[in-house]
Amino acid sequence: MSNYHIKNFPEYFHEYRKSVRNPELFWEEIAEEHFLWRKKWDNVLSWDFTKPEVKWFEGAKLNITENCIDRHLYTNGDKTAIIFEPNDPNEEAQHITYKELHARVNQMANVLKNKGIKKGDRVCIYLPMIPELAISVLACARIGAIHSVVFAGFSSTALATRINDSDCKMVLTSDGSYRGAKTIDLKGIVDEALESCPVVESVLVVKRINSEISMKEGRDFWMQGLLDEASIECAPEIMDAEDPLFILYTSGSTGKPKGMVHTTGGYMVYTSYTFKNVFQYREGDVYWCTADIGWITGHSYIVYGPLANGATTVMFEGVPSYPDYGRFWEIVEKHKVNQFYTAPTAIRALAKEGVSHLESHDLSTLKVLGTVGEPINEEAWHWYDDNVGKKKAPIVDTWWQTETGGIMITPIPFSTPTKPTYATLPFLGIQPALMDENGKEIKGNQVDGRLCIKFPWPSMARTIWGNHQRYKDTYFSAFENMYFTGDGALRDEVGYYRITGRVDDVIIVSGHNLGTAPIEDAINEHPAVAESAIVGYPHDIKGNALYGYVTLKESGEGRDHDNLRKEINQIITDQIGPIAKLNKIQFTAGLPKTRSGKIMRRILRKIASKDTSNLGDTSTLLNPEVVQDIMDNAL
Ligand code: WT7
Repeated sequence: MSNYHIKNFPEYFHEYRKSVRNPELFWEEIAEEHFLWRKKWDNVLSWDFTKPEVKWFEGAKLNITENCIDRHLYTNGDKTAIIFEPNDPNEEAQHITYKELHARVNQMANVLKNKGIKKGDRVCIYLPMIPELAISVLACARIGAIHSVVFAGFSSTALATRINDSDCKMVLTSDGSYRGAKTIDLKGIVDEALESCPVVESVLVVKRINSEISMKEGRDFWMQGLLDEASIECAPEIMDAEDPLFILYTSGSTGKPKGMVHTTGGYMVYTSYTFKNVFQYREGDVYWCTADIGWITGHSYIVYGPLANGATTVMFEGVPSYPDYGRFWEIVEKHKVNQFYTAPTAIRALAKEGVSHLESHDLSTLKVLGTVGEPINEEAWHWYDDNVGKKKAPIVDTWWQTETGGIMITPIPFSTPTKPTYATLPFLGIQPALMDENGKEIKGNQVDGRLCIKFPWPSMARTIWGNHQRYKDTYFSAFENMYFTGDGALRDEVGYYRITGRVDDVIIVSGHNLGTAPIEDAINEHPAVAESAIVGYPHDIKGNALYGYVTLKESGEGRDHDNLRKEINQIITDQIGPIAKLNKIQFTAGLPKTRSGKIMRRILRKIASKDTSNLGDTSTLLNPEVVQDIMDNAL
């Protein structure tokens, strides 16, 4: 890996054409060249989007942790695999070598086995960004257990829903977590969740904040005691390429979260190959992605992708503002970070604080900058380019999704000329299409439409846990023989893509994917609420913020509105988590509805965005009079 894989723009086009002319051959060569297989595949790809069914490298046998850990031991055992940077800058950073990672993953794998976890069992991981999070993900993969990481900012109700949906037998958690100056009682949240999770047999608890917690006899165990007794050798479970590796939940347009199922072989090949190319990772580089492993970005580009490449990957426990807004840059300087990958919302929050926090730090090691999770606005893009990369580090605006497993549309640094706010061109092997409302593909440039993908790629999710029909309905039914992303996009005069945002009822707030339905369901549980509708509106830092329209039952009509607002946000915090709280709540006499009873969100969106010059066609409304009333009282 001493050279850039894709060296220049003509080479990208050459490789791209090769990759779409014969995708099977393209991916087969990569799979052969870069990975350790216990047995080669019988067939590279079989697929049928009407079922839908997709299988990559069928018949192949492997263990992903052998690829992420064992094979580096011979050549690079003393190299740092993970740099752990704690929340508190005064606590020492940890450098975990590949050798140590091997021992610690094996120990944890043995602990899981001793507690009865077998291949195919589901294990819920609810941990903060500490080394044990990465280690437990890998420990599951070592023994073929399916991990389901739940972001440690979700509430007990959200956690319970996810545990129950996939029948997790075990939960891995910690006594608590640090978040800036605050601590969070994670074990308390788990205890509450488990009151409604009958399938969970055991809870293993990592000590992190040394808080007083209660341990339930026979169910709860301290992790360290078990690790101390476990062997540092654990033979990897040999998996089929299409065996599930993990489940990761993402919001949908109905109340229940979707447990996206990713499988082993294709996911490994795609995340590893994209990591190397999109970040132009070279031996000796230090790579840092600021995401949480609770999201797909962390799975693919903190854990699996980097480790499969034998890279050094930074894990940061804290937040960008603690102890002050210079923390990110202090870490870049301290660990001599070469590739830095973050979210537009973090960039906007940092930009707001001014450049003084940057000036005192040496950022000269940075070679490549990345963004992910939501569209980046032009101003934030330039701020990042000017002040962080000093115009020398290309920005890769990477578009992808929990469902896609890996980066799909992105510039290749030092090859693709970047363009602010554009994710630019498809990665090798990815075949995007823009579709019109009648289901026809829109060809040519300077067009916009709904973004679909025409051909399978190795890391696509294979199903929704326990609900294949929903997988089909959500992703493969809007357009024939296409994977539908839920996003809108435009293609400019040279064929570059710009993602314009969701075209469904998902709103991206601070880079978090939130469905409107689960939030509305939560609000509607308030005894005074009759009905509600949530829309997004533009927000300087969060990208989008949430605006709720709420109608009250007769019994609630005399209530104090500010108190009601607090209660509604508390319900949302309890049911989903603080990330889904509403910025604005307007109480209205009614919601604009079509004759068939569907809420006209388009109108509500315009009012929330203060863009009421043209509300569009309101003739199909059942109750046009409420629109004026909502406009008059808009917040
Ligand atoms: C949605 C997926 C992929 C990991 C983090 C989010 C939006 C993602 C971009 C980008 C514009 C983006 C899309 C997508 N999105 N990256 N570079 N430019 N929009 O994963 O939670 O599954 O959300 O995030 O709307 O559909 P996710």
